[in-house]
Amino acid sequence: RKGKTPEDVVKKYLQKVKSPPDEDCTICMEPLGGPSGYKGPGVGPVSRAESVGRLAQCGHLYHFQCLVAMYNNGNKDGSLQCPTCKTIYGVKTGNQPAGKMEYHIIPHSLPGHPDCKSIRIIYNIPPGIQGPEHPNPGKPFTARGFPRHCYLPDSDKGRKVLRLLLVAWDRRLIFSVGTSSTTGESDTVIWNEVHHKTEFGSNLTGHGFPDPGHLDNVLDELRAQGITEDDGLTE
Ligand code: APR
Ligand code: ZN
Repeated sequence: RKGKTPEDVVKKYLQKVKSPPDEDCTICMEPLGGPSGYKGPGVGPVSRAESVGRLAQCGHLYHFQCLVAMYNNGNKDGSLQCPTCKTIYGVKTGNQPAGKMEYHIIPHSLPGHPDCKSIRIIYNIPPGIQGPEHPNPGKPFTARGFPRHCYLPDSDKGRKVLRLLLVAWDRRLIFSVGTSSTTGESDTVIWNEVHHKTEFGSNLTGHGFPDPGHLDNVLDELRAQGITEDDGLTE
């Protein structure tokens, strides 16, 4: 994306708003009719005509400068997510460190899925040094509990979830670097917003089977990351 400024990216997803309504911008909490309350670094002046924009698909309104500031706070991957309704513009990617995702079939059934075999996914991510997309660039990060083993039923729906997880992996959305809510350790590899089942025949941690809603929950969580059924077919 060389040559594309943050302003260019934001503009691409916006429609012009000639006379802003008498409402506040929910990013900076200042009136849309006045200037952006965001005075962060790299936020230059904009002309009055383009100071407020409407996100083209969901219709939510923000100060142009507020959206640029929000974009600059993220990983600047060319995508934008509406902070109100979470609609994603472009292709959202994450900051998952380099590693490996593998899977295979195991000839045993999961509790709650007696009629099929199972899929085991194996994630492996080694420790490393944080990049510019991570919370503390240049600082090492740890990686605990790898390889991490996860399970899905080898059913039609389970295979669909697997397909979409492979897309999520390519987009670096399965893990991120941050503070583990389980251990409290910072600068470590943690699960991102897509739940995985890491127990096979038991459910001691709450991350096991049976769990009748699991596959639908994961599909919802993937959708929230911008990954839908179409993605599994085209990529
Ligand atoms: N299995 C699957 N998901 C888990 C687990 C687990 N054992 N523990 C937590 N999660 C989910 C949480 O419900 C939350 O949504 O991961 C998300 C992030 O939780 P963190 O504790 O911040 O993540 P992390 O440190 O990566 O995971 C904790 O999971 O797989 C194990 O070895 C791993 O012991 C580690 C534990
Ligand atoms: Zn604003």
